[in-house]
Formats: sequence, C-alpha cells, structure tokens
Amino acid sequence: MNIREITPQIFYVGVNDRTTVRFESLWPLPAGVSYNSYIVKDKKTALIDTVELGEAYALFGHLDDLLGDTPVDYLVVNHMEPDHSGSIPLLAARYPQMKIVGNRQTVAMIGGFYHIDDPDRFIIVADGDTLPLGDRTLRFLLTPMVHWPETMMTFEESSSTLFTGDAFGTFGALNGGVVDFETDIELYLSEAYRYYSNIVGKYGKFVVRAMNKVLPLAPKYICPTHGPVWHEHIDRIAAIYDQLANYRSDAGVTIVYGSMYGNTEAVAEALASALAARGEKHIRLFNAGKDEMSFIISEAFRYDGLIVGSPTYSMTLFPPVDTFMKAMKTREVSGKTLGLFSSFTWSAAAGKELAAYAEQMNLPVAAALEMKQSMNDDTAKAIEDFADAFILALRKSREQK
Ligand SMILES: Cc1cc2nc3c(=O)[nH]c(=O)nc-3n(C[C@H](O)[C@H](O)[C@H](O)COP(=O)(O)O)c2cc1C
Ligand SMILES: [Fe+2]
Ligand SMILES: [Fe+2]
Repeated sequence: MNIREITPQIFYVGVNDRTTVRFESLWPLPAGVSYNSYIVKDKKTALIDTVELGEAYALFGHLDDLLGDTPVDYLVVNHMEPDHSGSIPLLAARYPQMKIVGNRQTVAMIGGFYHIDDPDRFIIVADGDTLPLGDRTLRFLLTPMVHWPETMMTFEESSSTLFTGDAFGTFGALNGGVVDFETDIELYLSEAYRYYSNIVGKYGKFVVRAMNKVLPLAPKYICPTHGPVWHEHIDRIAAIYDQLANYRSDAGVTIVYGSMYGNTEAVAEALASALAARGEKHIRLFNAGKDEMSFIISEAFRYDGLIVGSPTYSMTLFPPVDTFMKAMKTREVSGKTLGLFSSFTWSAAAGKELAAYAEQMNLPVAAALEMKQSMNDDTAKAIEDFADAFILALRKSREQK
C-alpha cells in the first residue's frame, strides 16, 4: 500500500510497476518503475495525474482507501503520455462530476486518445492560471516539451509543493519509502541519468527553460511522475537535470563498438588499454550488438569522451552501431570529444558513415583510424597515434571547462 501523506493534506497515491519489461517498449526496467499520482485534499479534492492503464485499479484502490465516498472533484493532467493518462477514461467514468483540468493542447489530446470531448468535462487553463481548492490553491505553469508539447507543472502555493510531471523523474519502482529521506536514493540518482538520457534527452533546452521558470519558486517538495518525491535532496536531482540538460559531461570515456568476429573488438580493447596507459581512469566499453542500448546511451550522454567503432556491413555501418549513432544524433548530443574507428574486408564504408554522423552532429573528430581485416603492426601504431591525439583533445576540452 503506497499511500503516504507527504505534507499536510497532500498524499502520494501512485503505483509500482514491477512487471513491464521495457518502458515505451524500448528501455529495460531492471528495478521497475513507478507511476506517481498525488491527491491534494481540501474543500475540493484534486488528483494530479493518473497511472498506466494496467495499474488503474491499483490507483482506484488507493483513492477508495484515502477518500472513501468523497469524490474526486478535479483531475489535473500535467502530461498526456499514456503512462500517466491511460486511466483517464476509467477515472472519468468513475467520477461523472469530476472536471478534467488541462491546457488547450491537453484537452485536444484527450479527445484524440480517449474520445472524451464534452466541453462540460473540462476546465481549460493557461499559463499562470490558478484553481482554488479551499485553503490550498493550484497554479499551472506551462512547460512545453518536457517531454511532450502539452506538458505543464502544477504548484500548490501554501505548501510550496511542485508537481513536475516527468521532470526530475527516475526509473526504479519505490521500495516502501516515498520521500527521498525515507529511502536509499543512490539507486534513483543513478537511474536518473538513464531516465533523462533515454526519455527526455532530446529536449535539453526546454528542460533548461522549465527549470529556470519553476525552481525560483523554491519548492519544498518536488513530486515527479516517476521515482521518489524530492525534499531533502532537491539539490542533487536538480544538479543532475541541470548538468544533463546543458550537455555538461563528467570526465570519462565511453567506447561503443560493433563486432561479429572479434577484429573490430580487438581495436576497441587496444584503444582502451592505450587510453588507460595515458592516465584515463573512467573507461567503459560497450558491445553495441549485445549490451542494452539504454545503458550505452546513458553512459555516452554522461561522459565527455566518446569513441565509436564499426565494421563495414553490407556497405554501411553494423546495424546496432547505426542505431547508437542515430540515438546520439536524435538527442542532439554536443560537447563530446569524439574518436572513430572502422574496419572492412574488401570495400570500406563504415568509416565514412561514422564521419557523416559526426558532421551532421557538428562534432569535430579528434582521432580516427581504419583497419583492413585484422590487427597488424600498422594498426598497433595507428592505435598509439589515435590515443595520443584523442587524449590531447580530451584534456584540452577539460581545461576549457
Ligand atoms: C553480412 C556481412 C556483410 C559484410 N559486408 C561487408 C562490406 O560491405 N564490405 C566489407 O569490406 N566487408 C564486409 N563484410 C566483412 C567484414 O568486414 C568481416 O566479416 C569482418 O570480420 C567484420 O569485422 P569483425 O571481425 O569485427 O566482426 C561483411 C560481413 C558480413 C558478415
Ligand atoms: Fe513522458
Ligand atoms: Fe512518464
């Protein structure tokens, strides 16, 4: 049972999902995920966001336990992605008098997804509008593209509680504790990097804009739609979001390679040794054909050195490496020191394709090498030269920070 009074009259009523294997059918959930909903109880009762459809009855059980026969007067919809909106139709049927509160884009999406379009069911709000509940008042702040265009945040003024939708969210189901000081937050902080880079990563400038808009309100509680409620450690989660949204990196090198028969992999291993020999400590190698893209993206997003290698495969990149590069491009990754290596047997193409991605992403290539078939003395020398050039560029970029 996950009902918790966070601050007087504001309750956590969310649910844990320990069953779904991949969030958005893409991102693995080794520690599960929570869909967070909140109740603000006053003369009028407001529910902030719902949960994924499969968990709807778990949410309704919480509402029955907390509210008894008292109906929900308002449903505030901060975000329409179905992990939060999926239970809206069932909830609307359960509480026929309940008004759905959202902005114009929210309401249009509710019509499109759930075919609810009776204007009497909606209260349409604009940026800065307020909704009094009694002693408490909700204020709505539009924060588009965090992470869909209709996204908004809701601020409860008397308690300084900010309901932030996906922003400041993390993967990881809740393990009993709800507010950060009740739980071991290290799991959630490490999952915050993966959550941000996988889900929100493309929208950095919108996240920055939203943070500049809402953090000056000095919220005492930050209530996201995934992961713990932030109270004592707002500075830590805000620092991670600030870092990633501004594409600031930690010091480290991520080496991502594809290899079918081990030849390109041997270059990746040799490059890692050469970088370690030059004093680089945080080096992680990922086999793009085997390792989960979710974790590769997260590491590559976080650290400042990125080296990518691919064999030539049917005159293009090895497919998982292409997927990885596309993920970097989609997320508009910038500020990395980039190195590229490639291999071929009879006709080279991978090196050119990697360079084309670098150009599209406006990332200068600090070092590159191409190998025919397998390692020989020339490759060994090229690896040493690559490592020298790469380290030089990496150290220079760190000095400039
Ligand atoms: C399906 C397939 C397609 C390939 N296409 C090309 C190609 O277009 N050009 C080329 O030079 N080598 C090509 N190769 C040969 C690879 O370069 C060779 O298999 C090499 O061992 C791959 O590097 P690895 O040992 O790191 O897997 C292809 C190999 C496979 C299995
Ligand atoms: Fe979302
Ligand atoms: Fe979400």
